[in-house]
Amino acid sequence: MDETTSKLAFDTDWQYDPAPESTDHIRIDEQYELFIGGEFVAPKEGRYFDSINPANEQVLARVAAAGKDDVARAVKAARKAYQTSWSTLKPAERGKYIYRIARVLQERAREFAVIETLDGGKPIRESRDIDIPLAAAHFFYYAGWADKLEYAFPGKQVAALGVAGQIIPWNFPLLMAAWKIAPALACGNTVVLKPAETTPLTALKLAEVIRDAGLPPGVVNIVTGAGDTGAALVDHPDIDKIAFTGSTAVGRSIQKSLAGTSTKYTLELGGKAANIIFADAAIDEAVEGIVNGIFFNQGHVCCAGSRLLVQESVADEVIRKLKDRMESLIVGDPMDKNTDIGAINSPAQLAKIEDYLRIGQAEGGEMYQSSATLPTTGYWCRPTLFTGVSQSNRVVQEEIFGPVLAIQTFRTLEEGLDKANNTPYGLSGGVWTDKGAKIFKMTRAIRAGVIWANTFNKFDPASPFGGYKESGMGREGGLHGLDAYLELS
Ligand code: NAI
Ligand code: MG
Repeated sequence: MDETTSKLAFDTDWQYDPAPESTDHIRIDEQYELFIGGEFVAPKEGRYFDSINPANEQVLARVAAAGKDDVARAVKAARKAYQTSWSTLKPAERGKYIYRIARVLQERAREFAVIETLDGGKPIRESRDIDIPLAAAHFFYYAGWADKLEYAFPGKQVAALGVAGQIIPWNFPLLMAAWKIAPALACGNTVVLKPAETTPLTALKLAEVIRDAGLPPGVVNIVTGAGDTGAALVDHPDIDKIAFTGSTAVGRSIQKSLAGTSTKYTLELGGKAANIIFADAAIDEAVEGIVNGIFFNQGHVCCAGSRLLVQESVADEVIRKLKDRMESLIVGDPMDKNTDIGAINSPAQLAKIEDYLRIGQAEGGEMYQSSATLPTTGYWCRPTLFTGVSQSNRVVQEEIFGPVLAIQTFRTLEEGLDKANNTPYGLSGGVWTDKGAKIFKMTRAIRAGVIWANTFNKFDPASPFGGYKESGMGREGGLHGLDAYLELS
């Protein structure tokens, strides 16, 4: 497309007709309790909090806030289940339960997708096509390993760790629960999971699935609440392993709390990934990859391609095409099947993003946003890019976790590489080029756990995921994900 035709394509007035997904087939209760020992129980201190729909600010449900005593009760139930049922069960039987969870998730996929979108604000297209199918795929994948652990680690003795405490964020609520629960169960551990306070509903639905699948009581316990509930889980003395995904700040505080104890831990923290576009790349595909890398899920993605490094000779073309494409992105009702960019997850996250928009401009960056009209209630941010920023700028160095892209240029491969590695993070990266040799050179030298070549944000249960530097420690997914829940000797 040259400049004239691309302008014509997006200057027309036509719009898609609304295509809202139906909510008729779903049930959300007014109030949810804690899932402990196989049943739903009220929190001891009687505290509850609201989970809202960030697209319209309406309350979806009241949810129990677990205090220290509730967390202790959940850990006790998990310990009992570990000792009396789960660790003594034949591995093939454990596998059958995990398969059952996977199959029920598939059967009820539409219901889960709708609730995920209502509670968290992400477009229904993403929860339907990505979050829920991938969550089921993780249960299927790890179900298969349950009775084959000794083949996964030939020559080693494998043993479960015991009780795992798992704390997850709000950007992929059900998928993160699956990432954490599936490998833990396959390896013979029992679990206490704490969902994020803005998106607890699909984890509570998963609790129903787990109960209905007939898992022995206490094998999976779900305690909802905010940071204090998470901290109570970390501080509990009878936990053998903590798995955390979230902010680097909380990851650090967890590391401090656990220093000097025998509790094992894995941490999946933030990122500031670079998408690196060479002049010889297929430019139109690269532009789609950039869009997918940063605007997917409102940029609420730890491995988001939040920096664009583009080779100087094609920078003007790439930026022009990117702006055209941004103009065509539909921002709004997450329940509409045409929506590309949904609601920002919470007012706090929106305030953080807006802060960075101010910081970026104050630092001298030039900000460009699409002209999308935003709904008047709910939390929204237009797709945004910054040009004219340099390596030391905060919008280039710090994780924004919103639909905000920082663009820099480079001339040589070495310069691109230097810039890519020059942040405190190392979770992911992307390379776009026609040359295989360049891909190998770059992927070897970029200090990041996951690197995509000529694509971005692709996930598979069989591939490990995790970061270097301040992006965390340990890996999830694949065989590495089993390793994290086993004692090998
Ligand atoms: P957060 O790290 O506070 O929340 C993640 C989870 O940790 C939630 O379940 C929360 O309740 C829990 N938590 C909070 N404080 C805790 C504590 N002291 N001990 C144990 N658990 C605790 O992240 P937040 O505030 O929601 O988001 C802030 C920033 O963190 C985002 O803007 C983003 O940059 C980053 N983030 C990164 C994520 C990732 O996937 N790597 C996910 C979510 C946020
Ligand atoms: Mg919510």
